[in-house]
Amino acid sequence: MKKIAVYTSGGDAPGMNACIRAVVRTAIFRDLEVFGISYGYDGMINGNIKRMQSHSVSNIIQRGGTILKSARSEEFRTKEGRSKAYQQLKANGIEGLVAIGGDGTFTGAKIFFEEYGIPVIGCPGTIDNDIYGTDYTIGFDTAVNTALDAIDKIRDTAAAHDRIFFIEVMGRDSGYIAVECGIGGGAEFVMVPETSTNLKAVVKSLKNLRKSKSSSIIVVAEGDVEGGAEEIMQKVREKVNDPEKEFKVTTLGHIQRGGRPTARDRVLASRCGMAAVDGLIAGESNCMAGVMNGLVVYTPFADCIGKSKALNPDHLKLIEILSI
Ligand code: F6P
Repeated sequence: MKKIAVYTSGGDAPGMNACIRAVVRTAIFRDLEVFGISYGYDGMINGNIKRMQSHSVSNIIQRGGTILKSARSEEFRTKEGRSKAYQQLKANGIEGLVAIGGDGTFTGAKIFFEEYGIPVIGCPGTIDNDIYGTDYTIGFDTAVNTALDAIDKIRDTAAAHDRIFFIEVMGRDSGYIAVECGIGGGAEFVMVPETSTNLKAVVKSLKNLRKSKSSSIIVVAEGDVEGGAEEIMQKVREKVNDPEKEFKVTTLGHIQRGGRPTARDRVLASRCGMAAVDGLIAGESNCMAGVMNGLVVYTPFADCIGKSKALNPDHLKLIEILSI
């Protein structure tokens, strides 16, 4: 293998730049030519492909976002789109790929490998932490710390005014961010898509609020089955039916996707990026390089996409116990 390319796809995540840097520098260290594909699969289709040098990735380890830009490509979902992408890679002599992203990115990479046989290894880049085959995904730690910073601030005003705050965090299909913020932020309740929400318990607790505590923080993952934070707040407020209690909603939104990556994300990104390149050289493919129990592991894309990484029920119990 002489030439490889790297791209970022799907939602950006803090630490993607550190991962790109690791891929580029490891490739150069191993005497490979390395190319950057801008705008993910769309860029692959349109030939948005440029040679990268060591200096192309200088001073990016501390930056959020992705210097390679990102996109969610509709065209790559079609056979014609993938055929165009293959022609572009062939024209540039690219023999291996590193795909940085989440399950959508890996689904595309898997299909592409099965159709055209170009070796590809993924690095888990998503704030959601919902990828099987790695304990943590790149960007999760930063997103949680960003959300926690906001929750701490909201707690100040919640306590000052005796208010009940519903705080919506990201996680369309996954409650990892909500659970981590729930524990770290001392939330009274956490609502996640993976488990059904016991609204009765929330209502009961809020009705008795003045007996124990005067304010309350409830963290809601955006994908909860009962709805978003606003919808859930309306349902709960109606049932609590106490005009003296003040209910508020804050949606943290895309603030969670940006910002300087934490040390943990930079280290994870660097390890995964290097492992992806070394894996390609060693003949690995159609898999993701992740870190489990402190060690780099390669997990087939089929498992990363197909197996769910279940929330730890002990963590949910922890929130319940610590909120009495
Ligand atoms: O997959 C990461 C994620 O941040 C989800 O938690 C969220 O639902 C989604 O991306 C938002 O995507 P977009 O930026 O396209 O609105």
